[in-house]
Amino acid sequence: MKKIGVLTSGGDSPGMNAAIRAVVRSAIYHNIEVMGVNRGFQGLIDGDMTQMEASSVGDIIHKGGTMLKSSRCEEFKTLEGRKIAMKKLQENNIDGLVVIGGDGSFQGARELSNMGIKTIGIPGTIDNDLAYTDYTIGFDTAVNTVLEAISKIRDTSTSHEKATIIEVMGRNCGDLALHAGIAGGAEIIITPERPVDMDEIIKKLNDGKKRGKLHHIILLAEGSGSASNLKNQLANEAGVDARKTTLGFIQRGGDPSSFDRILGSKMGVKSVELLIEGETNKVIGIKDNHLFYMNITESLEVNKEFDNDLFRLTEILSI
Ligand code: ADP
Ligand code: F6P
Repeated sequence: MKKIGVLTSGGDSPGMNAAIRAVVRSAIYHNIEVMGVNRGFQGLIDGDMTQMEASSVGDIIHKGGTMLKSSRCEEFKTLEGRKIAMKKLQENNIDGLVVIGGDGSFQGARELSNMGIKTIGIPGTIDNDLAYTDYTIGFDTAVNTVLEAISKIRDTSTSHEKATIIEVMGRNCGDLALHAGIAGGAEIIITPERPVDMDEIIKKLNDGKKRGKLHHIILLAEGSGSASNLKNQLANEAGVDARKTTLGFIQRGGDPSSFDRILGSKMGVKSVELLIEGETNKVIGIKDNHLFYMNITESLEVNKEFDNDLFRLTEILSI
């Protein structure tokens, strides 16, 4: 392995910069040249890449987003697009590639591996929707960002004795809503894995009111519907005048937590070691606080199990 590339793809997540920094510095540590590919797979197709030095990744470990930029690249999903990308990799004498992203990006990495370039995937997404690993880079920071928002919303919700619906991201995965909801003391958490029907929500709101609760925080995962719809439903079906907040991109930005910086650093270093060992078509994960790696296809076939024990805590703690 003489020269490798690194790229970030799909939704950016806090801690991606720490992973880029770790890939670049550990490659240089092992006397391997490293190219930073801009805008994910789009940058491969465009041949948009630059030689990285140790100093290129100075002052980024504490920053959210990704210094290499990211994209969702439709062209790369076509064989023609991937052939152009392969050609650009060969022209630049790149024999290994680290792809930092989510499940879509991993599928792209697998295609490149099948075409002959050694690839290693690092899980970077705020969604925590990759079942094979306990955590993805960016999830912890996003949970804390949502928590901060809950605290502020709670102040005003309590003052006006209102129910507030907070819609969070996560695609089809409810982890962000569940973890932030538990930590933020939400009364109701609605996720795709554990739908809550309208009767259940209304009962909870009424019971809480009777007990003198001054506010109700409803955490809604985007995969379960929109805050606007739920607000209208509550008004029409129960006469409840709820407020709603959709957190949007606020959840994806911000300085990464120490957890995400450390996770990104560990995985970045490991990815270079795996390339040196000649591994390809692998993704890195963390289980019970230990790093491991496995085949990309197998990783994507693991079924995500919802943490029912954690969910049950809302039933007990929000009385
Ligand atoms: P994430 O990686 O966060 O899940 P996306 O699903 O948008 O984000 O995927 C990121 C990019 O990965 C896509 O824009 C596309 O370029 C590439 N990609 C996704 N799926 C495939 C696929 N089946 N084959 C090849 N490339 C893919
Ligand atoms: O995968 C990360 C994520 O932020 C999801 O939570 C969300 O559904 C999606 O990306 C939003 O995508 P976009 O950046 O294209 O709006």
